Amino acid sequence: LENGVARTPPMGWNSWNTFGCNINETLIRQMADAIVNSGMRDLGYQYVVVDDCWFNPNRDSSGNLQGDPSRFPSGMRALGDYLHGKGLKFGLYEVPLDKTCAQYFNSYPGATGSQGHEAQDARQFAAWGVDYLKYDWCSPTGTIDQQVATFAKMRDALAATGRPIVYSINPNSIHAKTGPQRNWGDVANMWRTTEDITNAWDTGQTNGYPMGIQNIVNVTVPLAGYARPGAFNDPDMMEIGRGGMNDTEMRSHFALWSIMASPLIAGNDIRNMNSATQTILKNQNLIAINQDSLALQATQVSNDGTRRVLAKRLANGDVAVALFNQGGGTTTVSTTAAAIGKTGSSFTLRDAWTNATSTSTGTISASVPGHGTVVYRVSGGGTGTPSGATTLVSAASGRC
Ligand code: GLA
Repeated sequence: LENGVARTPPMGWNSWNTFGCNINETLIRQMADAIVNSGMRDLGYQYVVVDDCWFNPNRDSSGNLQGDPSRFPSGMRALGDYLHGKGLKFGLYEVPLDKTCAQYFNSYPGATGSQGHEAQDARQFAAWGVDYLKYDWCSPTGTIDQQVATFAKMRDALAATGRPIVYSINPNSIHAKTGPQRNWGDVANMWRTTEDITNAWDTGQTNGYPMGIQNIVNVTVPLAGYARPGAFNDPDMMEIGRGGMNDTEMRSHFALWSIMASPLIAGNDIRNMNSATQTILKNQNLIAINQDSLALQATQVSNDGTRRVLAKRLANGDVAVALFNQGGGTTTVSTTAAAIGKTGSSFTLRDAWTNATSTSTGTISASVPGHGTVVYRVSGGGTGTPSGATTLVSAASGRC
């Protein structure tokens, strides 16, 4: 979406994965402080997104949305001011129809969706200083055409406020799985590709609830052609540091999200991170690959069911390559410089996890533990197009 924001994948934190509806302004402020004190803000994690359950179940007498006075007694504007004062940005959750997901599933009272209030709510968000709107379908009904038209209403309402606001949509929840069925880049800055993520490596789902890391990768890799500045596939908020995966799997999760040019939205409790979690979320090599100015999503070079290779061309001519072992035991994953779009005969490989460098005349290979991902940044020689890239769907142009 050409609205001036999200030129690279948005980075930040979201309350839902760890806290669900148990949120209040003290928690959000503590998390903001922790994002600053941990050094994450300075690495790019800037959007602090307050997910479902922030609102008063009743609009005011003029039909305006209000924050829940017991959870957010200082008001939503004050929360935005606090975040901005910390050098962070303010994100909020809403839905395009009548009920938020918590109103459907978690017995949260009211029906405070934006349906029929789009312009008014967009103006309210802008007045509160909102910089990022997560807009979640959360309805069992609706055709994809109705979704496009409805999501576009809020896109246009946000644009009319004049405030730059990242527009993040989820077409999937409790609905036909429409996230991967079209290129949503005419509607939003980022769009969920699947049903909700869960804190697990593999749930066996193809696109049902809930999705593990491997399952989400399977859906999102083929959508690579849609990614561009201002428009990104969103494989959902990260589960790193939440205890459901081993360190190898968490490193893979971050490596794959990084190379897929996915928004990097942490979902853990930033106040209490162990050193493994910090090392993963703060990996500067991977963040640089994710935030590269070309904003390309890695394309698939090969996949034999166990060994999967993805490559992402970078602005300075380097190519990032992920050697992903989808199997359970250690195996060697290999590709070549030519297959990832490099020309020439001498290359330097920098390992994104260890920082170690090695030289190669063309073979790119590593011994990778089960569920692990080795990432190299390959420099030297010239740069063409990684194999696989030409077979992908091209981005749609024009608006709906
Ligand atoms: C849906 C979304 C989640 C979260 C919840 C909140 O399930 O997909 O990311 O926002 O709603 O209720």
